[in-house]
Amino acid sequence: MEKLYFEIPGIARKEDAIDYIREFYEYQSDINGSGGLHHFTDNYESWLGKLEQDYTREPSEEKVPARTFFLVRDTDRRIVGMINIRLCLNERLSRYGGHMGYSIRPTERGKGYNKINLYLGLKVCDAHGIDKVFMDADLDNPASWKTMEALGGIRIREYYDDIYAHCTVVDYNIDVKKALKEHPEFEDMIRLVDPVF
Ligand SMILES: CC(C)(COP(=O)(O)OP(=O)(O)OC[C@H]1O[C@@H](n2cnc3c(N)ncnc32)[C@H](O)[C@@H]1OP(=O)(O)O)[C@@H](O)C(=O)NCCC(=O)NCCS
Repeated sequence: MEKLYFEIPGIARKEDAIDYIREFYEYQSDINGSGGLHHFTDNYESWLGKLEQDYTREPSEEKVPARTFFLVRDTDRRIVGMINIRLCLNERLSRYGGHMGYSIRPTERGKGYNKINLYLGLKVCDAHGIDKVFMDADLDNPASWKTMEALGGIRIREYYDDIYAHCTVVDYNIDVKKALKEHPEFEDMIRLVDPVF
């Protein structure tokens, strides 16, 4: 069984990280969950510094503490996805954006990897004492909201968002402990790596 794990971004991944972003541009795909990496492809070292600040910052209405991970495939150590996890929500994020943003690189989609990404993300939330996760997605991005539903996400709202997304948005809640308990099948697909957990 193929296994995936979360890796904390480090300097050794400079080329791989830039290649990850390059692929999104090549396929003209939306980039999510990258912790802003696409703004730092010519200054990867600064991005690593930014991630430190992201993790340790005090929450405010401007920004909240957050962690960003590479999702890595065990067999070849390829970065197949990324996730950005907000450790608490401010007013804005509790209306739009929620606890997590994620992506899988275009050439690795449709293999169930994002469900593993979210499962690992929920484990991180659990480790940080977050019991209920709020997430949203564009209605026309079923790969995103079906990921949430696959992990027990409950659709709580569907509305036209004329402030941020300018499209129909669907909101979801996930009960973290329940999701982890009810989906033991994902345990065979992950590897837990220190010091993530
Ligand atoms: C959204 C995204 C992360 C999904 O990644 P993925 O690895 O292809 O997703 P998975 O293979 O784990 O599939 C998750 C679910 O979506 C479904 N799905 C996947 N691709 C789909 C598609 N193109 N259309 C409809 N459903 C799709 C899968 O069948 C699965 O649902 P199921 O369990 O009911 O069968 C990926 O498309 C992506 O990176 N998109 C760009 C960034 C983005 O939009 N991020 C989300 C906003 S934060």
